[in-house]
Amino acid sequence: MPENRVEIKICLGSSCFSRGNRELLNVIKEYLKKNHIDDKVVFRGARCIGHCSEGPNIVMNGKLISGITASEAEEILDRELINIR
Ligand code: FES
Repeated sequence: MPENRVEIKICLGSSCFSRGNRELLNVIKEYLKKNHIDDKVVFRGARCIGHCSEGPNIVMNGKLISGITASEAEEILDRELINIR
């Protein structure tokens, strides 16, 4: 992966999916499109990453971010992706 790209993995395991990643998946997709950064972010789904009780989980450049809700996602993405926006 090129250095200036960010990787976001969203856990699509059944626990995270039912705890909110079903909505978060679309929220993140829309956010990347709206901010024209979908070419700078590698966004992919992942299987269970072993932190189900803290979910829903995403991993950004190796950093686990837990308990993120669709309503607070934009603020978190703004903060985490500030260097590529
Ligand atoms: S289902 Fe997401 S961490 Fe297990």
